Amino acid sequence: MISLKNGVLLFLAALLLAACDEGKIYPEETPVDLGRTATVNVRFKGLGAWPKKNYLSLVALGDNSDTPTQNKRFSKPVNADKTISVTLNNLKDDTRKICIAVVSNGLDIVYTYYTYEVDKSGDNIVIDVDALELASYGRIQEQVFDANCIACHGGSTQVAGKLNLTRDKSYAALVDVEAPLSPDKKKYVDPGNPNNSYLPEILEDNDYHKDMFNSTGKQEVLALIKTWIQEDAPDN
Ligand code: HEC
Repeated sequence: MISLKNGVLLFLAALLLAACDEGKIYPEETPVDLGRTATVNVRFKGLGAWPKKNYLSLVALGDNSDTPTQNKRFSKPVNADKTISVTLNNLKDDTRKICIAVVSNGLDIVYTYYTYEVDKSGDNIVIDVDALELASYGRIQEQVFDANCIACHGGSTQVAGKLNLTRDKSYAALVDVEAPLSPDKKKYVDPGNPNNSYLPEILEDNDYHKDMFNSTGKQEVLALIKTWIQEDAPDN
């Protein structure tokens, strides 16, 4: 004998199976509401400069704040030819900018690669960024020099090692310039030759500069600088 309770269960199971057969578990009229969306399609070049301590993210910024209101991390692609799509759903009403940025674990923006100004139309947003170069001098200036070096290598009072790393001065001071302190007369930056450049060397092995970054922070900065030099050290 099938009890009443089991009978009901069987009946429900049969209903469910029938529903599956017709592919109609959800009513057709109610698509999931994602609110206003922003989708970015992008290819990344210079993958050697992919962050290791920080994260590469698509972020939304509100009216009057530099702290992301929304944040979605990119996953590192296997190669530079692959187009990646990432979407932010349910954009907040006060969203004014969508950015591709290097973001810290605590959601501080370390460097912004790309900014899109959001209008007030409420329309969904699709941004096609053809190819974005990760190994950019702009990022080195901001993430490395501005944040860690210009206290000693800049300003008017003191320029350590006679090397000025402030914006507008640093590129000309480094690229194709022989480093006075290099024992084997290397240039600070020898375009195309990271292993023959003194800049990464001094961050790896020098008393004044040894403990400036923690281990993954140091890997990230060195990979960024070396990838940029490998790609011929453009002023990008
Ligand atoms: C606490 C101060 C201080 C900070 C911060 C600092 N440096 Fe230095 N740096 C020095 C001093 C002092 C020298 C000169 C070393 C010497 O004379 O042996 C020097 C020398 C150098 C040199 C060699 C200069 C030459 O003449 O060959 C390079 C390259 C360099 N620093 C890069 C950097 C970079 C890049 C950063 C940031 C990541 C940085 N430094 C941060 C103090 C500092």
